[in-house]
Amino acid sequence: MDVTSSETRHQLCRIGVLISGRGSNMLALADAVRDGRILKAEIAIVISDQSGAAGLHHAAERGLETLAIERRQRAREEHEREIIAALGARGVDLVCLAGYMRLLSPLFIEAYRGRVLNIHPSLLPAFPGLDAQQQALHYGAKVSGCTVHFVDEMLDGGPVITQRVVPVHDDDTEETLSARILIEEHQAYPEAVERVVRGDYKIFGRRVIYLYER
Ligand code: GRF
Repeated sequence: MDVTSSETRHQLCRIGVLISGRGSNMLALADAVRDGRILKAEIAIVISDQSGAAGLHHAAERGLETLAIERRQRAREEHEREIIAALGARGVDLVCLAGYMRLLSPLFIEAYRGRVLNIHPSLLPAFPGLDAQQQALHYGAKVSGCTVHFVDEMLDGGPVITQRVVPVHDDDTEETLSARILIEEHQAYPEAVERVVRGDYKIFGRRVIYLYER
């Protein structure tokens, strides 16, 4: 990903966060930027495809710029063109999907190729798509977790940046397992973004290899 050259342009890597709901991962990223755990970066804008998303209010309370670009009754590409224009107008270098509930089209992927990250609440490639925690319970998995990955045209399919594992307990419900995974998500996403912003990795095939272990 060409964050380095854009860093030179803007000094800071400008992050655009796309959400659809409560936005707890967006807040985890905002906290990490604020606290200096992600250096040389700033949250340029938080965009939701749902104007009622709680995350928009939380972001605004933090003083972040917010924008609702409603998806309702709009073709995906037309909707995405508006999002891409909003990101472009703010010089966004890196797009972080944080509970964004609409699959991105090839149009978007092409516009930000290698510069879109997502967090998913399972150990991919297990349980892609919706209701990943419920899928893990139904399957009878003994561990689950979360994955931060680059986004490509495949659903939850791009190269893995980091994963965190949690146990699945016998008495877990979807709620208890989701809560355990969410705690890990809030650690994993800032760590992954920090590494991507620093650019100390190379991608060989599907493998994201860190150049300097910490
Ligand atoms: C998280 O579980 C994330 O992994 C998934 O959607 C959920 C979003 O939660 N993609 P939040 O809006 O970040 O609180």
